[in-house]
Order: sequence, then C-alpha cells, then structure tokens
Amino acid sequence: MALSARVLHSTDFFAEVTGIAFHELNPAIAKRIIEFNDRYAVLVFRETGLDDDGHVAMSRLLGPLETAPALFANNEENRRRLKLPELFEAGNLDADGNIQALDDRFRLFARGNRLWHTDSSFYQQRSKYSLLLAYIVPPGGADTEFADMRAAYDALPQAMKRRIEDLVCEHDVWYSRELAGFPDAQSEERNRRPPAQHRLVQVHPGSRRKTLLLASHASHLVGWPIDEGRALLRELMEFATQARFVHRHSWRAGDLVMWDNRCTMHRATPFNDLAFRRDMRRTTVIEDAA
Ligand code: OGA
Ligand code: MN
Repeated sequence: MALSARVLHSTDFFAEVTGIAFHELNPAIAKRIIEFNDRYAVLVFRETGLDDDGHVAMSRLLGPLETAPALFANNEENRRRLKLPELFEAGNLDADGNIQALDDRFRLFARGNRLWHTDSSFYQQRSKYSLLLAYIVPPGGADTEFADMRAAYDALPQAMKRRIEDLVCEHDVWYSRELAGFPDAQSEERNRRPPAQHRLVQVHPGSRRKTLLLASHASHLVGWPIDEGRALLRELMEFATQARFVHRHSWRAGDLVMWDNRCTMHRATPFNDLAFRRDMRRTTVIEDAA
C-alpha cells in the first residue's frame, strides 16, 4: 500500500498517514515519514501494532533519542513504570501501574503538560520530534491540542514580525512548573536543569518556513525587563493559540502521534485523572548538534 496523507486542519497542518507497515520499517520509509512531517508538522498513524521495543526502534530511525531524566532528588520518587529509558511516562500511572496519588510529585510535575508548550525547549540542544503512543484512553478522551506555529508566524502583522525578529528568549522548566502549581522544587532539582536560550523567531529546517518558538517554559526575553518580556510573550502566546491555528486530537488506543517541536506547540486537556487510567508513552528525538 502506498503512503498517503489526509490533512485534517485548514492551515495544511496535522495529517493522518496511512500505508505504513510498522513491522517492516527501514530508513527509506523513515525518510518519507520525515518528508510528511516537514510539511504537516503533526502526523497521526492509527493501529500501528507497535509495542515498547517497536516504538523505540521506529523512533531511532528518525534520529538519536532522549532518555527520560531523573527528575527528583529523592530516588524513590524516580522509580519508573516503563523499563526502556527512552520511554517518557505521559499517562497517569505510577511505578507499580496504579493511578498516581493526588500528591504524587510526578503527577504534580506533569500538570505542566496542560499548558501550551513544546517538549524540551528548556534544553540548549532541543528535541525535534516527539512520538506519543496511546495504550489506554480514558472516558472523555483526554484529547491533546496542537498549534501550528508556522501559520501563526505567517499571520502576524508586519510590524510585529519586525519587532520580534532578533529577540532571544530564556526557557526554564521550573518557570512552567511554577505556572502550573508544582509546589516545591528543591535546589538540587533546579540545579540539574538550568535554563536555555533560543531565538524567538526560527527558520524551520525541514520547510525553510519561519516559525515562532514559544512555550510555557519561555520565562522572559533576554535583555528586557522581566515584566515587559512576559507581556510580549503572553501576547504572542494568545495570538498563536487562536482556534484557527489549533487542531484537537481525540485519541483512540493504538494511535501514534508524531509532532515537530520546532514548529508546533501542544497541551494536554483535563480529564478525571484520579478515577480513570490513561496509559501514554512517548519517545523524543534530539535535534542535530548545531
Ligand atoms: C507529552 C505531552 C500531552 C498529553 O507527552 O509531551 O505533552 O495529552 N502530552 O499527554
Ligand atoms: Mn509535551
């Protein structure tokens, strides 16, 4: 079966791709997947049949993978459900496979996923692709929303494009945790994950289109008074997440969604996470060294 893409959003963004035999992937197919992703920025593949090993192996064809970091100073809190270090926990299950408790620190840390963000922008070496595979979808769906940052950039008024062209932004994971109400990062935890700086306007490598690099992690503009930088970032975030740039994905178990963090933002939507299981696992492909 030939690979084909069906676009699901009006900005030529977010496509469902069919025709991939996930059990016999090779570099040539990976190249086709990247070409589709360069164009549409987010792809959904249904019923891939992938398990953990297949998910990691498939992701590896797209580039080197990030391994999930030890987030907490207390090692007991770093215990993991997922055995492969390349898999990030994106559901609401604890190390023993039970629903995370109300005060589970990982649960509180992951609350930040409900804010618009891009994965890993708080690292100097960012990640390009994230691949999120759904195993258990709770009642209500727990949809994920995606925003098209190339379309948002294109739609900015000329005066704004000129104003932001050379700005540099600092991204700090602890800033987004603070916004999301994570209570008590310890100094050791903070020191392990220092902030990074990136240009606000970027050229997306795969399409040569300009794009905005925004995220809940974006704490301030370098060289600007903190409050003025935050006000401009807030204005851009509001602009870039208008309904016309946003696609909402309703998960089915077995869906694999792949997105390019360099030209999109995403956020989780609320569900009753203390009552229902959600099993989601993610790999993350690191950007090529500059
Ligand atoms: C992620 C993420 C959103 C969701 O895995 O990076 O932000 O809906 N997930 O789980
Ligand atoms: Mn994310």
